[in-house]
Amino acid sequence: MRKHLFSTFTGIGLLLALLIIYIMGTTAMADMKINQQAEKDDMLLSIAEARRSTRQYTDEPIASEIINKILTVAMLAPSSYGQNPVEFVVVTDKAKLAKLAACKRIGAPSVRQSAASVVVMVDTSKGELWAEDGSVAATYLLLAAEHYGIGACWNQIRLRDGRKKSASREICELLGVPSRYEVVCVVALGYPKEKLPPHKKESLDKGRLHFDFY
Ligand SMILES: Cc1cc2nc3c(=O)[nH]c(=O)nc-3n(C[C@H](O)[C@H](O)[C@H](O)COP(=O)(O)O)c2cc1C
Repeated sequence: MRKHLFSTFTGIGLLLALLIIYIMGTTAMADMKINQQAEKDDMLLSIAEARRSTRQYTDEPIASEIINKILTVAMLAPSSYGQNPVEFVVVTDKAKLAKLAACKRIGAPSVRQSAASVVVMVDTSKGELWAEDGSVAATYLLLAAEHYGIGACWNQIRLRDGRKKSASREICELLGVPSRYEVVCVVALGYPKEKLPPHKKESLDKGRLHFDFY
């Protein structure tokens, strides 16, 4: 009888121990999930805060793996009708970078100085919202560059003059791009010579936000 009671208590004890371990485990996992989500939220915010237009670069080249990662993010950008009409030409040759910069009449010093510049161009036969499509992809590119520690600067091309034609046409001719394409911008990339101070969410003008009614 005593032996029976003993084994019953041991069994209950074991069950209780397992239950406690289970509860502790699930609580720890829930905490981990909350922390991971908080880290994720902070990551995007800190990239958006840290991103600045960087126009001065060191001479260090950017590894092709990094450029490919940045372009992969840009290619994941949403596009009108899901047509993915945005294409990219990466220029790293110094002489070509100088020619590319000169396609914009007022010049594009950050492109000339850059380790690599990405021409963001759109196939206009794929839809009328090409300017928006190019701009969204370029924005993804800027954020991805920041994420990988690369300084970047948007150089406006759409609606800008070249030397003889529009800057967009001159770039397409320089790079052998078919005439149905329009260049939205050229994003200059390079390791920053100096890090500009980040934007801070605290300094944003909350008056720009409206909910339900202006
Ligand atoms: C649509 C657009 C066009 C821009 N065009 C140029 C440009 O042609 N040349 C340039 O140096 N910067 C250009 N910029 C960068 C802006 O000057 C810069 O984003 C702005 O001054 C805010 O500074 P920040 O990027 O450091 O926050 C452009 C940015 C945008 C979004």
